[in-house]
Amino acid sequence: MQKKLLGFGLGLRTDHYETILNEKPVIDWFEIITENYLVPGGKPHYYLEKIRELYPMVMHGVSMSIGSSDPLDWQYLKEVKALAQKIEPEWISDHLCWTGVQGKNVHDLLPLPYTEETINHVVDRISQVQDFFQQRILIENVSSYVAYQKSIMSEWEFLKEISERADCLILLDVNNIYVSSVNHEFNPDDYLTAMPKDRIYQIHLAGHSDRGDYIIDTHDHEIVDPVWNLYSSALRHFGMVSTMIERDDNIPPLSTLIEELNIAKKIAQTTLAKEVA
Ligand SMILES: [Fe+2]
Repeated sequence: MQKKLLGFGLGLRTDHYETILNEKPVIDWFEIITENYLVPGGKPHYYLEKIRELYPMVMHGVSMSIGSSDPLDWQYLKEVKALAQKIEPEWISDHLCWTGVQGKNVHDLLPLPYTEETINHVVDRISQVQDFFQQRILIENVSSYVAYQKSIMSEWEFLKEISERADCLILLDVNNIYVSSVNHEFNPDDYLTAMPKDRIYQIHLAGHSDRGDYIIDTHDHEIVDPVWNLYSSALRHFGMVSTMIERDDNIPPLSTLIEELNIAKKIAQTTLAKEVA
């Protein structure tokens, strides 16, 4: 299957609804947080439908909990599928993580132990979800602050193996790779080198909070230079990939995010021009 290239997008946030409809800014596409639109009707759907008429969209979820030992939440999956049938996104993504157990949602994207047992478990669940959605999904690497003693491989080996066995696609969060590389002291380039190029369908860029000894993935700051550099490395490895900026807190005016998106465009142009040369 030919990889779809959407260009440069932003996360759709309520603060920007009116500006988007009034100004119709030049943004290639929007990523929506799936959970914000699972209840049909009301204001969120009013804006969603209006904006969908103007821009391509992708759906990004935070509640699939694909790694949990709880059964898959079929009610949730049905709601996601219904939303997808309505807005016809380019693709649906969620995270390679678990978000709770025994019916409790901790509202955090928690890392998994990198073991064969976890791989088998997650591959089976991604396959079930893909069968149900009748399309491949993208799974995203999360940032992490702790590691499991039981892990027997690196995060990048784990992600690669799961994507290949489940035949799913990858949403690579470059900021998360950077955050985890600092917290766990690995070389982020090893991560990029290991990735199966043809499965990388989307890149996330974001800012984070630097707490000195460790970094937290907070999505409330502008993107820092080491993450821009890593983005450039990622494009050298994978060629052009649909790219978007996530901003979830301390949200600036849309024009500020468009300026930041223009930096991503410039980096992509320069990096890819050098590759061609
Ligand atoms: Fe992300």
